[in-house]
Amino acid sequence: MANDSTGRIVAGLRAWIDQAPPGTRVPSTRALTAEYGASPVTVQKAMRALNALGLIESRPGVGTFVRATRSTRPPDYGWQTGALRSPHARLPAGSTAMRSASPDAIGLHAGYPDRTLLAERLVRAALTRAARGDTALSRPDVAGLPELRAWFANELAEATPVGVTPPTPRDVVVLPGSQSGLSSIFRALVGFGQPLLVESPTYWGAILAAAQAGVHLVPVPSGPTGPDPDDLARAFEETGARVFYAQPNYANPTGAQWPSGRAAQVLDVVRAHGAFLVDDDWAHDFGIDTTARPVAAHDDAGHVLYLRSLTKSVSPAVRVAAVIARGPARERILADRGAESMYVSGLLQAAALDVVTQPGWRTHLRTLRHELRARRDLLVDALAEHVPQAHLDHVPPGGLHLWARLPDDTDLDRLTRDCEAGGVLIGPGAEWFPAEPSGTFIRLNYSGPDPDRFHDGARVIGRALAANRRADA
Ligand SMILES: Cc1ncc(COP(=O)(O)O)c(C=O)c1O
Repeated sequence: MANDSTGRIVAGLRAWIDQAPPGTRVPSTRALTAEYGASPVTVQKAMRALNALGLIESRPGVGTFVRATRSTRPPDYGWQTGALRSPHARLPAGSTAMRSASPDAIGLHAGYPDRTLLAERLVRAALTRAARGDTALSRPDVAGLPELRAWFANELAEATPVGVTPPTPRDVVVLPGSQSGLSSIFRALVGFGQPLLVESPTYWGAILAAAQAGVHLVPVPSGPTGPDPDDLARAFEETGARVFYAQPNYANPTGAQWPSGRAAQVLDVVRAHGAFLVDDDWAHDFGIDTTARPVAAHDDAGHVLYLRSLTKSVSPAVRVAAVIARGPARERILADRGAESMYVSGLLQAAALDVVTQPGWRTHLRTLRHELRARRDLLVDALAEHVPQAHLDHVPPGGLHLWARLPDDTDLDRLTRDCEAGGVLIGPGAEWFPAEPSGTFIRLNYSGPDPDRFHDGARVIGRALAANRRADA
């Protein structure tokens, strides 16, 4: 009965809206109650239906109005197809890792730590101080604020062993996040149509940046101890590549950290082939059982390009990173940055520097290590209990994610959809492979919100996996 009345009001108002100019105020609930002889609840139900159809919009405290953006016919953008022609490369669609989750979902898909894991007090105070300082009103150098460049150089210098010349502030170029550094390196040092060696699996954003730069990806298999040096040497020889992009510490997605001996072997291969290693140290601040060991600390001949990001550890809103490069490579990267964005906001650079130079920052990192450990172990336990078919090659010594292998016949798209329907977002592993996946994997973030719900989340994955396998049988 109530449904019929709602339908009657919706139909009546639709006819009225068709005639009304956009922006016309919709009669009040009281007027509609009287006009249709219906209860206020029924009228409000009808208004919600019209809202969902995009025909009206309510402006809180003002009233409800006929939507201004109505269009009588679908727009025709066909002319753009002719004007744009085919792209030189079809960029992969944005990763699942960047999706926003609804507040009630269990988000295990993201690439960022939850805000409760950030040093909120330090970040807010730093932003306030930066807003009061000179950097709020001036233009910084293209390469970055001298003090911040000195901080990045000094951090790497501290890890540099005796006998290796440490980097100087001049070698540092500040970036608006290391993603743009990847684009610059691929554009400026690899070049369109040229081969780039990458670990497989590897960071989806590197795959995206490579596609944008038109470079040709050559996968080199990599596991919990990094790539096999012989495989790497063969790939250099067969392809003539001059650059190898890798994550020696807490790799995204596997969480692997190369043992020191392996890092030395890889560096030898890179040197022997007159090539560059891009050492992407994205998770430097997320060590759990170990501390990050930049391979860049062992090179003073300009073979290693070191990317160090503060985005995830300081705040995604203070998006600052740096590349440390020596020689002509640094000049090429700097020129590319100038063309791309000229400089990075001095305000954000000053805020980032303020945060990482406060005494509280070290304390924060120590606390973070404990919190990440507790969350990682909780998710490992939850998986073991509810998804026993999921296999972890290793428990990652750092980073933000577990990389779990599922039975090969799992329909991953279906599993991802079923988990989402059950309120759990997961990262489908195929996104991290530069070519065909070598198995069926999912990536799960243990640094997201609500660790109390990890067991619930794992239970949903376990059920979805069981249903997946029944459907397949
Ligand atoms: C391996 C890796 N490199 C680079 C980035 C990009 O970092 P930024 O936020 O500093 O651009 C990410 C972000 O997830 C990452 O996982």
